[in-house]
Amino acid sequence: MHNYRRLLRYVKPLWLQLSLAIIFMIIFSLLTSAIAFLVKPALDDIFLQQDATMLKLLPLGLILIFAVKGVSNYFQSYFIGFVGNRIVTDIREEVFNHIQGLSLSFFNSIPSGALTSRVIYDIGMIQRSVSSVIAGLLKEVITALGLIGVLFYRDWQLAIIALVILPLLFFPIIKYSRKLRRFSKKGQSQVAEISSFLQESFTGIRIIKAFLMENFNRREFFRVNEKLFTIRIKRLRVKSLTAPISETFGGIAAAAVIWYGGSQVINGQSTPGNFFSFMTALFMLYGPIRSLNRSNNQVQEALAAGTRVFELLDTEAEIKDLDDAVTLPGFNNSIHYETVDFAYNQEEEILKKVSLTIRKGETVAIVGRSGSGKTTLVNLLPRFYDVTSGKISIDDYDIRTISQRSLRQQIAIVSQQTILFNDTIRVNISYGRSDVSDDDLFAAAKSANAHNFIKNLPEGYNTIVGENGIRLSGGQQQRLSIARALLKNSPILILDEATSSLDTESEREVQEAITRLMQDRTTLVIAHRLSTITNADRIVTMSNGHIVEIGTHAELLLKDGEYANLYKLQFSSEAVSQKA
Ligand SMILES: Nc1ncnc2c1ncn2[C@@H]1O[C@H](COP(=O)(O)OP(=O)(O)OP(=O)(O)O)[C@@H](O)[C@H]1O
Ligand SMILES: [Mg+2]
Repeated sequence: MHNYRRLLRYVKPLWLQLSLAIIFMIIFSLLTSAIAFLVKPALDDIFLQQDATMLKLLPLGLILIFAVKGVSNYFQSYFIGFVGNRIVTDIREEVFNHIQGLSLSFFNSIPSGALTSRVIYDIGMIQRSVSSVIAGLLKEVITALGLIGVLFYRDWQLAIIALVILPLLFFPIIKYSRKLRRFSKKGQSQVAEISSFLQESFTGIRIIKAFLMENFNRREFFRVNEKLFTIRIKRLRVKSLTAPISETFGGIAAAAVIWYGGSQVINGQSTPGNFFSFMTALFMLYGPIRSLNRSNNQVQEALAAGTRVFELLDTEAEIKDLDDAVTLPGFNNSIHYETVDFAYNQEEEILKKVSLTIRKGETVAIVGRSGSGKTTLVNLLPRFYDVTSGKISIDDYDIRTISQRSLRQQIAIVSQQTILFNDTIRVNISYGRSDVSDDDLFAAAKSANAHNFIKNLPEGYNTIVGENGIRLSGGQQQRLSIARALLKNSPILILDEATSSLDTESEREVQEAITRLMQDRTTLVIAHRLSTITNADRIVTMSNGHIVEIGTHAELLLKDGEYANLYKLQFSSEAVSQKA
């Protein structure tokens, strides 16, 4: 009920269109009943009495009725459709805006495919029902009432008999429609499974081919596809039964009514016109009642979909600006991590008592084994997650007290996985800014060693890079994301070096680009390359969520601790090849 009222809130601003729709519906429904009503004068006056005036009047009246009925039908369906589409568009926008503002922890908890299907499928479900609720509940109810009125007006005793038999007629339909709904639901979740399988098969095609999985995938697809067929056939069996069964019942009902009504006419208690007017109204009642049942089902489905959508809207962002959040004026002195603890979830603490000060202009390299918490550590600075305890501050501002906008303006990020959007190179580099001049764009691309390869592409800066940059090489992708960070020109730089190894040539180009990017910036770099580490002012060694050592390359080698171990393991071969 609560959700129902919540859905109605979206209808409110559309009261004008809705009222118009209702007015046209009423006209449409009343005229529908009028047709059944007119069967009596048509039969009795024209055919039996052979009344010449009626012969002129009735056809004219009929033309008028159908014309007005047609016009109102057009407008009622236009306005209802308008209301339905408007509501759904508004909800979709609200949901998207809301999801964009949610924190990373939310996106970790729900697969992106499921989220997409909620935005598209569930909201689409609401739309179908908004139209059918209004159309169903109003149009069909009014039409049904009008027709029932005709029934009673023509013959109230027969009307009572008919209204007792009629529900019997609809009993199988209602029963089967429940079954049908179950099958549709099954079918829909099977369609969802097929579509997520399709998505994985298309995006993962390189690995699929490399591991010779095409035939395995074909068999797997055969399985899910055939399962859908089975469900559809089961549904078909039930669905095809509905019509014959209710027709048979309908035949029995018609026989009963004809027998009773016919004897009334023969006894002279009724006229043929009266009887056929009654029968017409009765047969016309079939449509509205059937669609009432259908729209009832749709309302149920819509409410379920609405509940899921509202759940999403009620999810609050974990990371929010305080009401009195201040704007960080700039970055002048230093960044402090003060005894920071952090956990993604209750089970496991990932960072433990981490304290670190980074002075302006400094380059701090973070090293440590895989999984030691390096990415986690830097992700706390732009507040992708909030610390569990302790504090992170920039120039004595606790980052939880400043607006996320002003905080993130100070930080440029090059992440471990390059993330590019399926758009042009120009858009990807100047991401989020429409005011970038060609000069600035080229300068950033040149510093990132990207300008030359971009220029050689047939479309240059207007080349579409493909989903996640698939049409570019790994090194090219990295250089684009470096150019993007260069153009943002923020004082603080977070650099999570990609671990994927490049050949020496692109390695050198990427390295040059990174060096230029770090110039005159305060940099937190998660380093996997020896050259990045040795160029850093200080090295922070992490192990198991702790900072175990801080110092320069030479100092830490002398100490012969964790860093020295790592160095022997990871970098000594690099050192040799660099000397060579
Ligand atoms: N989104 C997440 N939800 C839950 N746990 C996570 C999440 N991201 C990382 N972890 C866990 O946190 C720990 C630290 O991960 P982190 O990504 O910080 O490691 P890392 O030092 O950057 O490793 P690598 O060098 O391989 O990139 C790991 O044990 C990982 O399982
Ligand atoms: Mg990492």
